[in-house]
Amino acid sequence: MRKRFLAVILGIIMTFAFIGCSNSKTKEAVRPIVIQGAMDVETQSLVKQLQNAEKVTYGGWTFWKGTIDKFPVVIAKTEIGMTNAAASTLLAIEKFNPRAIINQGTAGGHDPQLHRCDIVIGKKSVNFGAFRSEHGDYNKGIHSENWIPMNIEVNVNGEIKEFKDFEGDAQLIKSAKSVANLYKKGKVVEGVIGSADQWNRELDRIKWLNKKYGTSVEEMETASAAQVAKSYNVPFLGIRILSNSEVNNEEYDRNSGEYCQNYVLEVTKTLIKEYSK
Ligand code: 5AD
Repeated sequence: MRKRFLAVILGIIMTFAFIGCSNSKTKEAVRPIVIQGAMDVETQSLVKQLQNAEKVTYGGWTFWKGTIDKFPVVIAKTEIGMTNAAASTLLAIEKFNPRAIINQGTAGGHDPQLHRCDIVIGKKSVNFGAFRSEHGDYNKGIHSENWIPMNIEVNVNGEIKEFKDFEGDAQLIKSAKSVANLYKKGKVVEGVIGSADQWNRELDRIKWLNKKYGTSVEEMETASAAQVAKSYNVPFLGIRILSNSEVNNEEYDRNSGEYCQNYVLEVTKTLIKEYSK
């Protein structure tokens, strides 16, 4: 009798242990891919691709949860600028525990070799709004070309680390490059995405940024999202399309946001295949 009782108890314990194990496994398997864009023109084509989309809002930040090819995907509208991007990324990580984050959208060309509708896969992103200057006396003017880039400090695993820039995740870069041949609106290159709350049109300034930071393009979100992702060790990649290029006198292309989303959809489908193996 006692033996049978013990066997039943043991059976119950093992059943719960099994459920616990399989639960934690499922949890790992369903961590979503988060895709970020600042504006409607950078997010709504992707939202349309979601099956069973559900809109969730936290403060001023909007997310659409759903699936693509049966895999969980969250589209995040970060809103424009560095602070918005950081806040949206933090919410995305805390609320959805993503397996990877892709920040994508429009940008302005810094590299004269790049033209409107070319796509830059972010080997790195850099916050080019972080700088200091040496002392200057009154009436000596403002010499932004002498300003000195500052590193960004991030707490990673309880330790403060300094970052000159943020590297794109190697695995994500590989997946992003693997679909380059499908893109017909321009070329696809690896490059440096420069971010700041700035829209630069002075050619000398753009040239200086391109020399100083090696920027291929400028925009207002990627390096900020990358910084938050770094603190949580979440794999991150920026993918940006040139909607405009001051250096090549090419004005804003209204369709570029959609082209970029179409490209990122292909990247996402490739990732989903890898994650489902
Ligand atoms: N400079 C700065 N931001 C740009 N964007 C597109 N082109 C540029 C540019 N040349 C993007 C930013 C922001 C919005 C205004 O457009 O990332 O989200």
